[in-house]
Amino acid sequence: MATVTFDKATRIYPGSERAAVDALELDIADGEFLVLVGPSGCGKSTSLRMLAGLEDVNQGAIRIGERDVTHLPPKDRDIAMVFQNYALYPHMTVADNMGFALKIAGVNKATIRQKVEDAAKILDLTEYLGRKPKALSGGQRQRVAMGRAIVREPQVFLMDEPLSNLDAKLRASTRTQIATLQRRLGTTTVYVTHDQVEAMTMGDRVAVLKDGLLQQLDTPRNMYDRPANLFVAGFIGSPAMNLVEVPIVDGGVKFGNSVVPVNRDAVAEAAAKGDRTVTVGVRPEHFDIVNGEAKGLSKDEAAGVPVTVNVVEELGSESNVYGTAHLDGDDKELVVRVHGRKVPEKGETVHVVPRAGETHVFSTSTGERLTD
Ligand SMILES: Nc1ncnc2c1ncn2[C@@H]1O[C@H](COP(=O)(O)OP(=O)(O)OP(=O)(O)O)[C@@H](O)[C@H]1O
Ligand SMILES: [Mg+2]
Repeated sequence: MATVTFDKATRIYPGSERAAVDALELDIADGEFLVLVGPSGCGKSTSLRMLAGLEDVNQGAIRIGERDVTHLPPKDRDIAMVFQNYALYPHMTVADNMGFALKIAGVNKATIRQKVEDAAKILDLTEYLGRKPKALSGGQRQRVAMGRAIVREPQVFLMDEPLSNLDAKLRASTRTQIATLQRRLGTTTVYVTHDQVEAMTMGDRVAVLKDGLLQQLDTPRNMYDRPANLFVAGFIGSPAMNLVEVPIVDGGVKFGNSVVPVNRDAVAEAAAKGDRTVTVGVRPEHFDIVNGEAKGLSKDEAAGVPVTVNVVEELGSESNVYGTAHLDGDDKELVVRVHGRKVPEKGETVHVVPRAGETHVFSTSTGERLTD
């Protein structure tokens, strides 16, 4: 087991002006499950391949434990990688596929067999050891690829979208299996995915990348509760956080007919920059529906923001209400999560107010989270 350090590691592909990974700094703890997540092309695979030794590091360094591995070939790094396409040898049996790296390393046959059998037991593959990959289901192939990594007992597991070939249901169950297995083995793991749900459910910590730049490194909980900027705010969480540009007024921000109190320091910070607005983030579950009109108030008197309901997504235990908010002449799409069976209907107008203490405030000009 070992720690992993990216020390301002940079990769600039030949012929490219922009760094695919730009001065990446990550300190990964011994035994940690770290997930790299971000949209397509943000540099996830490049980061992982730099750690694997499959991609040059142009500036900075990479360390595994105390060892500087920046310029070591892959075979000397004591890592095992699981790829998206599994890369199994089609002409070899499952057992031979799993034991191949050990065979190359000159490990004796009896030891290989023992390790392969142990791994097969953990992965529920015992009865398939004699089969060829083509006679396996997608999920079984995925487990063989995992098995091949496990038998090597490396210091670090590297996984690049290992579940993307599986259907949604199998992906969810395999996700849990991999996370459980990793905790049981305690092997430091760097896991790449573009799926934020996978990142949030599997990672001890999550690193969000965009355009080769690290946006935030945090626990899933902190990432959700305190996104560092507008990008992370919009990327983490499903449905996404509502982000609305609102004017700064005395006592907070103006949200339709209501003044919503938000962190004073945050507003002061924005005002100090000369901004007249801030961008307020509200998660779908943090809107309250206030039925002003039901109390006999007119549209203009009712508190909050009127939202015309366009679509209601009933999920059983809760519903997502998609609607158009009417904010001082500006129309804006919002998502509101409602619990229970009393759900507004399509075409209806409801009034919503962000719950006090559950708002996120970002600088409209820089996108950064403001103090709170
Ligand atoms: N061999 C290469 N030569 C030149 N540019 C490359 C090469 N590989 C990747 N890139 C570029 O580097 C950037 C990062 O690519 P990378 O494959 O790391 O993205 P990713 O986050 O893994 O994306 P995805 O989710 O689509 O797999 C992209 O702009 C990509 O076009
Ligand atoms: Mg990739």
